[in-house]
Amino acid sequence: MAIRHFLTLLDLNSQELISLITRATELKHAHWRGEIHELLKHRTLGMIFDKSSTRTRVSFEVGMAQLGGHALFLSPRDTQLGRGEPIEDSARVLSRMVDCIMVRTFEHRNIVHFSKNSQVPIINGLTDRFHPCQLLADMQTWQEHRGDIKGATVAWIGDGNNMCNSYINAAQRFDFQLRVACPEGFEPEHDIVQVAAQRVQIMRDPMEAVHNADLVVTDVWTSMGQEEEQKRRLKAFAPYQVTPTIMAQANQDALFMHCLPAHRGEEVSNEVLEGPQSVVWDEAGNRLHAQKALLEFLLC
Ligand code: CP
Ligand code: NVA
Repeated sequence: MAIRHFLTLLDLNSQELISLITRATELKHAHWRGEIHELLKHRTLGMIFDKSSTRTRVSFEVGMAQLGGHALFLSPRDTQLGRGEPIEDSARVLSRMVDCIMVRTFEHRNIVHFSKNSQVPIINGLTDRFHPCQLLADMQTWQEHRGDIKGATVAWIGDGNNMCNSYINAAQRFDFQLRVACPEGFEPEHDIVQVAAQRVQIMRDPMEAVHNADLVVTDVWTSMGQEEEQKRRLKAFAPYQVTPTIMAQANQDALFMHCLPAHRGEEVSNEVLEGPQSVVWDEAGNRLHAQKALLEFLLC
């Protein structure tokens, strides 16, 4: 059977994604009941991190432990990848030793190149273009709080970044309407929008985007690797902070999500992040369960 990779949400079809997030909730409840499901006993996940991480690293490492397997943290500081060993050589070597590889890196084309040289499934743990694992957790969190997201209206406020691109993929696969409010010059990539054109609208005004929305989502204004642009970004994004005034435009029972880490006082006010509509802690916790379901899907 051909190996499956998870480089973007579009690598799975809608039915597979819905089953996966439903399974994530099942695995969560099983874990809470103290049941042991060693579905990946003696299997190993390699984790390559070219960028920092708290949630992604811990959730994959704990997830593998709970499934009876093992995870290896591979930093460019200590591996030959960091000293210039070619991606294709590293992929061919590592995939002969481990059962699955998670990669967090900068350029998306590097993970594509890695996957083409791998004998085992590759999982995107974030690139400059996409963050699909986060979307599994976000969709699971929505389903647990509100049920089916089909037909709902989601407002993305802020940068047209990797998370926004993955929300566009999600709009297509989970069949919801996505309104993206971003400043000029910070739109999501045109080719990604085009594929989901029926479900995505790009606008400037955050108030218009959140009007009657069911879910409001944002992310940092300066992503990892963009630190030099911070000053320019702070200025451009100033009108895009998610505040109680913005949330008041959304539906009364609207939820607020953020992949974290959050910068209080920049993309979101403390009141919203800590407020009753925020589900960010459930969302972060679900990274563990969603990725366990993903590992099971790819490896069992
Ligand atoms: N949301 C997320 O991916 O967090 P980390 O950068 O901490 O992994
Ligand atoms: N857009 C952010 C997400 C961090 C989880 C970044 O790429 O830094």
